[in-house]
Amino acid sequence: MKVNIHNARFLLSGVKKEHYPVSTMPEVAFAGRSNVGKSSMINKILNRKNFARVSATPGKTATINFYDIDEKLMLVDLPGYGYAAASKGERKALSDIINEYLTERKQLVQLILLVDSRHKPTEDDRRMMDAIKSDGGMAVVIATKTDKLSKREMEENLDRIIETLNLSDGDILLPFSTKTAESAENFWDYIYDYILFDLDDEEGE
Ligand code: GTP
Ligand code: MG
Repeated sequence: MKVNIHNARFLLSGVKKEHYPVSTMPEVAFAGRSNVGKSSMINKILNRKNFARVSATPGKTATINFYDIDEKLMLVDLPGYGYAAASKGERKALSDIINEYLTERKQLVQLILLVDSRHKPTEDDRRMMDAIKSDGGMAVVIATKTDKLSKREMEENLDRIIETLNLSDGDILLPFSTKTAESAENFWDYIYDYILFDLDDEEGE
């Protein structure tokens, strides 16, 4: 039994724990710099055009958005950080929203870090990676916008991401592009292998 991606619902937008939906589904959250491609990726893996709102202007998504996928999996679009034009106060507000989610949300089984495959991960990315690794879990990193790279650049840049974020053998680095179906398939393979691996047993009753 697989997740029916056509049975996807936007649940709500929230900024603090009192807003989070009541749920028992395993939750996968996407973090990353503003404009890295979080919302675009959610659209791509659900095969939708404008399900998660893609911002024309970066730094506009300042809320946590919860998506219920077939009542089996919760996908969470976190606010993007590192938006250069944001004020100090705005940046603090965003990091408080993200930190509260990371520390309070018991249903969170994997925080996925998105980085732009063209660029070296930033200090903010490294801090986010520390948060992911601090509870001993594995790192899952998505390198976005790979359609903008040549094959050779891709190899070099993926190596640079591995080095900068200090990824090790047990971690996962998935190249991703909204322009190919393959990256979405690879993402779902990851979900079935690591997040929903017991779905068959549960459904087999
Ligand atoms: P915030 O909501 O501000 O945090 O940004 P975000 O991480 O959700 O990024 P978003 O999905 O809004 O994408 C930002 C821009 O990058 C948009 O113009 C997208 O069309 C573009 N984009 C995202 N993914 C890809 C990709 O794989 N390839 C290409 N070429 N463009 C992409
Ligand atoms: Mg977004």
